[in-house]
Amino acid sequence: MSGRTPLVDPARFPILARAVNGRRLVYLDNAATTQKPDSVIEATEAYYSTENANINRSAHALSHASTRRYEESRARLALHLGVSAEEIIFTKGCTEAINLAARSWGDSVLRPGDRVLLPENEHHANIVPWQMAAERTGAVVQPIPIRDDCRVDLDALALMLAEGGVRLLGVKQICNATGIVNPVAEIGEMARRHGALVLVDGAQGLAHLSGSPAELPIDFYAMSGHKAYGPMGVGALWVRGEVLASMPPFLGGGDMIRHVSFEKTTFADGPQRFEAGTPNVAGAAGLACALDFLAELEPGSLDAHEASLREEAEEALRGIPGITIIGAGSPKAGIVSFVLEGVHPHDLATILDRQGVAVRTGHHCCQPLMRRLGLPATVRASFAAYNGSDDIAVLAEAVERGRRIFADA
Ligand code: ALA
Repeated sequence: MSGRTPLVDPARFPILARAVNGRRLVYLDNAATTQKPDSVIEATEAYYSTENANINRSAHALSHASTRRYEESRARLALHLGVSAEEIIFTKGCTEAINLAARSWGDSVLRPGDRVLLPENEHHANIVPWQMAAERTGAVVQPIPIRDDCRVDLDALALMLAEGGVRLLGVKQICNATGIVNPVAEIGEMARRHGALVLVDGAQGLAHLSGSPAELPIDFYAMSGHKAYGPMGVGALWVRGEVLASMPPFLGGGDMIRHVSFEKTTFADGPQRFEAGTPNVAGAAGLACALDFLAELEPGSLDAHEASLREEAEEALRGIPGITIIGAGSPKAGIVSFVLEGVHPHDLATILDRQGVAVRTGHHCCQPLMRRLGLPATVRASFAAYNGSDDIAVLAEAVERGRRIFADA
């Protein structure tokens, strides 16, 4: 085979051995969720086979082992991020992490008229929780315009910040709909100069962080485990220590308290204050294992691999009549979003699926962006460590076949 070989052996990902519609599975929906290496699958299975017990509650050996596993997983994530484990709150995913910030920090800090700024291309998960917080507090959520090339309009942002009253700026690290990498350090710096706190939605970013969130001018970093080769149902929120110390609880229940009485309840310190109820220990263990998997890769090699596949895909798709790539230019991650003239993205995706190619279509949970672009939907192919040039070739052939089918119809 010529071209780029996978960065890691696809045989390490059991699901990639299955066929779909009688064809080899070409999995290009990695921005929705990545597939899991056998080590992650084994780690979650091993937890249930050998350590399963509730944490922090009982004196028996399994409970100790489970508590240790959970805290070691937190420490593993802290190491990956270059932050203190005391600043990491486990959640069930990135969406819950942003809701936690909006509910806890937002409700306790936002006042009527305070402004929350979010780029027009944000994911719904970083819009709706702030709209709900605004409903409760009287704050206002305002969109930061994006330019025709789908990038955040920094001149417009500067003007919006200069008007004053901005308490929070939320921005995603990598746009899930277009692959555009946002200049979060520059945006964070601008917001900080005006006294705003900054939340970065790292849903697409955990496997692509080159430094520590603690070194960026930001206060919150929300993460998803399942888009970084980890299990579903586990994610986290990093909160800068001094901000976390001031935040009231999110959910009430067991494990987040220090003392409970009907007269007065007091709460635990640190991340535990936000982790009511039985946590997803198996998920945390699997996530730690996914971070070990990522650590096996040469620094920067995953970004370079995915960007190279994306460039190859863009070139191949540009050779097909009627294709428009959405949000071209750089910097971009391993995501390519496109439309084919005269063919609805859902119809094209159905043709691709018949050929074993899994892509996402739709508004990508970015309806304001789609409205801004005047599109109902796009087709999105997104790449991971186990993809190679042969996958791009199958994608391009399948799209061309789709084009011919619809042209002849
Ligand atoms: N946010 C995920 C995506 O972009 C689900 O597909």
